[in-house]
Amino acid sequence: MLPGGQENPEARRWRLSGLPAAARDWSFDTALARAEAVKRDPADFALWHAAFRACRYWHAARGTLYLFGPEGSGKTVLSWCLARQALEGDGNFPLWLSLPELFDLVADSYRAGGPARELEARAKAAGLLLLDEVGGPGADRPRKAERDCFFKLVNHRADHKLPTVITTNLPPAELAKVFKDPFDRTIARLIKADGVLVEGKSFRMIEAEGRW
Ligand SMILES: Nc1ncnc2c1ncn2[C@@H]1O[C@H](COP(=O)(O)OP(=O)(O)OP(=O)(O)O)[C@@H](O)[C@H]1O
Ligand SMILES: [Mg+2]
Repeated sequence: MLPGGQENPEARRWRLSGLPAAARDWSFDTALARAEAVKRDPADFALWHAAFRACRYWHAARGTLYLFGPEGSGKTVLSWCLARQALEGDGNFPLWLSLPELFDLVADSYRAGGPARELEARAKAAGLLLLDEVGGPGADRPRKAERDCFFKLVNHRADHKLPTVITTNLPPAELAKVFKDPFDRTIARLIKADGVLVEGKSFRMIEAEGRW
């Protein structure tokens, strides 16, 4: 805060980006340095590094980036790196959102208007939207309002050529099953996106093995 209770511009940009505090520790440079330190098996490192490079050099003008892969492979961290790069560059202003959290808001307050609608409006318009955990907890039984919210977001952004990054554990065919898109339109759009498989041994497992 600045004297007089005003928020400084950097703090305001961070708050509006939706990034959690944990994302402060990560940029493409730190992610690379840490992966090099942690992944001792060269074949394992190479799998992660292929995904890292695809993200590092992805350009928002390409439209949609679909990051998928097993748990703990580093997708969320890569989405933070992409958001940080956009936040600190002079490109598209990012909005990072966990889709299950947006769905909780939708479920709680959609009828009453308020936060869910406001966030949805910001998500539609963001210079770069990053949606984490698509198809995550609870997605196997999405309510209509949640599915509609997701489809509207993806379609609106594709129609307006606004870039979107999605992270998910699900390959596109599985996502189609989970969301049961009645027109297949949204899923077809996601399948046309740049797909990046984030593979390799779970960083969580490597961390745990290092502690035990
Ligand atoms: N480049 C990296 N170097 C070192 N550790 C990393 C790296 N990327 C991620 N991690 C660590 O690995 C853990 C899992 O990373 P992350 O949450 O990005 O995985 P994920 O693929 O999103 O997992 P999930 O599918 O469960 O959402 C985190 O604790 C994170 O700190
Ligand atoms: Mg994740």
